Amino acid sequence: MRKNTPINPAVVEEKIKENRITNVGKASIREIKKLVDDIEKDTGQKFIRMEMGIPGLSAPKIAIDAEIEALRNGVASKYSDIQGIPILKNEISRFAKNFMNIDVAPESCLPTVGSMQGGFASFLTTTRMDKTKDTVLFIDPGFPVQKMQCQVLGIPYDRFDVYNYRGDKLKEKLEAHLAKGNISTIIYSNPNNPSWICFTPKELKIIGELADKYGVVVIEDLAYFAMDFRKDMSVPGHPPYQDTVAHYTDNYILLISSSKSFNYAGQRLGMFIISDALFNKQFPDLKRYYASEYFGHAMVFGTIYPLSAGTAHSPQYALAAILKAVNDGEYDFIEVAREYGEKAKIMKRIFTDNGFQIVYDKDEDQPIADGFYFTISYPGFEGHELIEELVYYGISAISLDITGSDRSEGLRACVSLVQRDQFDDLEYRVKKFHEHHKG
Ligand SMILES: Cc1ncc(COP(=O)(O)O)c(C=O)c1O
Repeated sequence: MRKNTPINPAVVEEKIKENRITNVGKASIREIKKLVDDIEKDTGQKFIRMEMGIPGLSAPKIAIDAEIEALRNGVASKYSDIQGIPILKNEISRFAKNFMNIDVAPESCLPTVGSMQGGFASFLTTTRMDKTKDTVLFIDPGFPVQKMQCQVLGIPYDRFDVYNYRGDKLKEKLEAHLAKGNISTIIYSNPNNPSWICFTPKELKIIGELADKYGVVVIEDLAYFAMDFRKDMSVPGHPPYQDTVAHYTDNYILLISSSKSFNYAGQRLGMFIISDALFNKQFPDLKRYYASEYFGHAMVFGTIYPLSAGTAHSPQYALAAILKAVNDGEYDFIEVAREYGEKAKIMKRIFTDNGFQIVYDKDEDQPIADGFYFTISYPGFEGHELIEELVYYGISAISLDITGSDRSEGLRACVSLVQRDQFDDLEYRVKKFHEHHKG
């Protein structure tokens, strides 16, 4: 018999059956979302929803105004250049200098249909540069959709969970994979979705140096740009800067999403920055698929063109306006995003005070930052069991299993949709869970 749980167990069981879910813990993010929607509707009780990584803050007015103005000026009827509008390219280049201290020409800065397209286009192009190297290496845990992209593209991938290979240990592990000779591309996110680990400069240097040694392109996914709130990166042109592999190699593509840093997810506009050296480098093997062997030319006119012929026109004006304000020091996007970190600090404490542990807890010897995600486990539970059990307590999350993590006991919790006025409820439910399961 189930104990007196915050959510009526009969309703939970009925909805699991109705949704034809055989194992809640192994269900996809969208299946869990639907299950929780149904339970909330039936019981009238609100869940602590930590399953989806949706931005929880409002889009900046400056972006909306610029986009409306662009629409009024008639851009909707016109194709944008595939490589993006010049003012946006210019502001991306300034942003790279101001917040990462790297020099890239506007030509090498491109808008994409979200970082989602940036990843897709990058995989497509980098795995065709050299006919002997067709494989993508994922430094896991990671964003599951990127593996799905490789799958639909028919691109083979290799992977390892970095949990046991932090600091100096990363070198040997990474080199063992690269030495096989089939890797064209390395991908990871930093800060990391789902674990919120951030690679240290030492680790980024290892990645950069090995990328040079083995002629591999690093796709650095900066979807949560400057959200390592342990450092204040808010002043343009002044250190500290966002740590990046671009400080250690020219073999890079940086994906920067406007979804989380600028709360502009709905307009599907991201950007990628290709190093000038890579943009202008020739790879004869590209000629198998493209008219040009120049990497940048192949990317723009051979990959982005047939994918989507560039991006929607008006959001480019929105992003250009935010970036201009950010570059000019008039809009502090990091201050806005800091709310995620503040909430994470409180929520992590609620869990750890009640028997839970943080799974990915360190960057080398430092505790990880508080940010958009954190990972939790509870003694005696596998991740999929924990997810199912927490549903009866009105808490939803996803299992780390689906993110390429080897820590099968863990869950990913996302803070963005949890409101501060739900913290009392969260505390009550987590306490009840602990009361029912400890010892
Ligand atoms: C690591 C990572 N990369 C890329 C994306 C997708 O970003 P966009 O909305 O710009 O396509 C996300 C979104 O959750 C993400 O977490």
